[in-house]
Parts: sequence; structure tokens; C-alpha cells
Amino acid sequence: MLIEIDSERIQSEIDQLAKISEASPPVVTRVLFSKADLQARAYVQARCTNLDLALREDVVGNIFAHWQGQDPDLPAVATGSHIDAIPNAGKYDGVVGVLGALEAIRGLKRSGFKPRRSIELVIFTAEEPTRFGIGCLGSRLLTGALAPEQALQLTDSGGKRLSDWLGEVYPQSGDLQSVRLLPNFYSAFIELHIEQGPLLERQRIDLGVVEQIAAPATLRLEFIGEGGHAGAVLMPDRHDALLAGAEIALAVESAAKESQSPDTVGTTGVFRIEPGAVNSVPYRALLEIDLRDTRLSTRDFALQRIRENVLTVTQRRGVQAHLDVVNQDPPAVCDAVLVQAALQAAVRVGLSARCMVSRAYHDSLFMAQNCPTTMLFIPCRNGVSHRPDEYASPEAIGKGTLVLAQLLEQLAS
Ligand code: GLV
Ligand code: MN
Ligand code: MN
Repeated sequence: MLIEIDSERIQSEIDQLAKISEASPPVVTRVLFSKADLQARAYVQARCTNLDLALREDVVGNIFAHWQGQDPDLPAVATGSHIDAIPNAGKYDGVVGVLGALEAIRGLKRSGFKPRRSIELVIFTAEEPTRFGIGCLGSRLLTGALAPEQALQLTDSGGKRLSDWLGEVYPQSGDLQSVRLLPNFYSAFIELHIEQGPLLERQRIDLGVVEQIAAPATLRLEFIGEGGHAGAVLMPDRHDALLAGAEIALAVESAAKESQSPDTVGTTGVFRIEPGAVNSVPYRALLEIDLRDTRLSTRDFALQRIRENVLTVTQRRGVQAHLDVVNQDPPAVCDAVLVQAALQAAVRVGLSARCMVSRAYHDSLFMAQNCPTTMLFIPCRNGVSHRPDEYASPEAIGKGTLVLAQLLEQLAS
């Protein structure tokens, strides 16, 4: 069956979606439950409806767009990604896997394909950790990686809990327990995504097929010191929370650099102080730390070193610390049969492909706990992501989408 992909159409939808943002172009910011996030969901839902897909939304806002197969009792084949975006992001992260999947389904429909298994597009709630400090909120709840009781207690920087947000945004909705899917709910899950790294572009390879997704951990660390007048409190008397935090930010860098694995990476991406006045000693510092590795042992060793440093710094500086490990996830191993199928699908349509590791996390990290999963990566310019200048060409997106469509056809036949 000849499947044709309209790359210009995907690009035009990507451009339209990028205009729904909390910041001015080219910056895309769509934090969970912001006006932009809710508008973007409506935009995508309207496109799904135009394509005659049946829509369902669960209690946490995961969206499911369903193309019923001839044998609706069989587990569906699923694809999808996210449309939320971190502050100061670009327009491709996540979006390619949603709007690309829509075009893959459109292409399959145009070709006259009639699926035996149903095909389902999933748009996950809050893959990005911006509001609650934890990534993949929707897919964690879908797969049972996060307990609903714990999720309801998640609190944003304004002190508002997930339970408050859900009551406001989805007032009719029910029990968070209902989100969880049965094991092997889908027959397979495939996520199309930009690589967010430089390898495919450097090696001039059209497609990366993901074999493994690195293990992420996130820490929230609060230091409470003692504030005071910047002129009057003499240096020996200080308990400066910022300086305690600064030592830990450096300790995070050392723990990652001195790890036995070249794949350990550590980032202090949030560092807020109070009161934030030039003539006042900071009494509070809040850090959010992201630590990842392909190997669990070296990731956890680095984590242990950071914990030890926190202890030393609190004692030496006379400050208090509250360390919360928000998540500490294992890596995901993708399904070997699916990986081979994806490589072969690429070759069938004349594209070059290789296996690779995903250093970023994705909803696939959790979907792999439910059903056979893999990801399709396409090259992005200079490997740049989580920045407004993130870019993937329409040709690259079209190629990835074509392989996705081929795979969906094969898996749903
Ligand atoms: C996902 O956005 C990640 O931070 O890996
Ligand atoms: Mn991202
Ligand atoms: Mn993403």
C-alpha cells in the first residue's frame, strides 16, 4: 500500500501550535494547566475530530484519539507524545510525535488502509516537569509508576496541589485511580521524537531507533539558613542558604564528572533564593537537581555523593536541609522485536537507520513498563533542544512520519 506523507501540512500545524504559547515567538512555553496548555489541547483535539478519531480524556487529562480497527477486541497499537513545553522551549519537542502521528494516521486513511487492530494516538499530560518538578506525570499514572495518592499531593511553586488543579480544570472528573491501564493494554507503543542530540545529524542518518532510555532522577533540595542585614551581619556569624546551595550545585557537577560512567549527567536547573534582595543575606534556597545515566549503579553512586555533600554542608554552615527525591527511575529497555521492525521499515522506504540510546526521558520510559515499546528519533539541527532555536526540517519530520506510518500499518494489520 502506498502511504504518502504531507510534510508541509505537518509543518503548518507545528507552526500553528507554536503560536499557542505563554511567551512571544520564537519562544514556546506551555506549562501544564496554563491557558496555552489548555488551548493547545483543544487545538489538537479539534484536529483529531476532523480525522474522525473518537476522543477520550482521562481524569488527569491524558487524551486518547482512537481509530477503531476491524477487530476492536484486540489490544490497539498506540503512538503519541506530549505538547506541553518547558519555559523558553522550541516548537518540536513532543509536538513532532503528536502532529506527526496525526499525519501518519491521515496518510494511512488516504491510502485506503483498514486496520485490523485499532490505532490510538495518546497525548500525555505533562511530560515536562515544570509545574510539579516531576516529569511524565500522565504516563506514570497510566502505568502505575506513580501512586494516585502521591500524585494528588504534588505541589507547585505557588503551593497549589495537583488535586486543587484537577478540581479547577476538570471539575466533572472522577477518581485518579481510573487512569491506570491494565498491563499490555496496548499491543505496542511507538513514539516519534526529535533526537535532542547531535548524532543523527553528524552521521547523516535519517532515523534513530531507540533501544534504551537513560535512567532519570530528580531531587528537590531546600536550605534554610538565617537572613539578616548585608552590612550588619559579620561573616563569621552567617548561615547563608545561597552559599550552601552553591556548594551543592558544584557538588552535583563533580559527582557527574567524576562518575565512572561518561553517561552520568547532573544539572541544577532551578535555584531560587529568598528574600532576593541585594542587601539581605539569603535565608532560603531551593534547588531542583536533575541526574541521569544509562547505568543505574553509577547514577545512584552520584546521587549518594550528593546526599553526603548535603550533610557536610549543613553541618559546616549551620543551615538546615530538606532533601526530597522526587523520582529515581530505572532505565527502560525497548522491545527488541519492535526495534528490528522499525529498522526494517526504514530500510524498506529507502532510509538509513541506526540503533541508539535516548539520553532524554520520554513517556516511552514508562510505556515500556506496560507494553512493547520503542521510539523513532529524527535529526534536529546541531542537536539543540529545550531552546527556542530548536529545529527539525520538514523533510526529516516527513521521513520519521513515514516510518511511523509503515510501522503502524504493519502492527495493526
Ligand atoms: C524531557 O523533556 C527530558 O528532560 O528529558
Ligand atoms: Mn522536553
Ligand atoms: Mn519530549
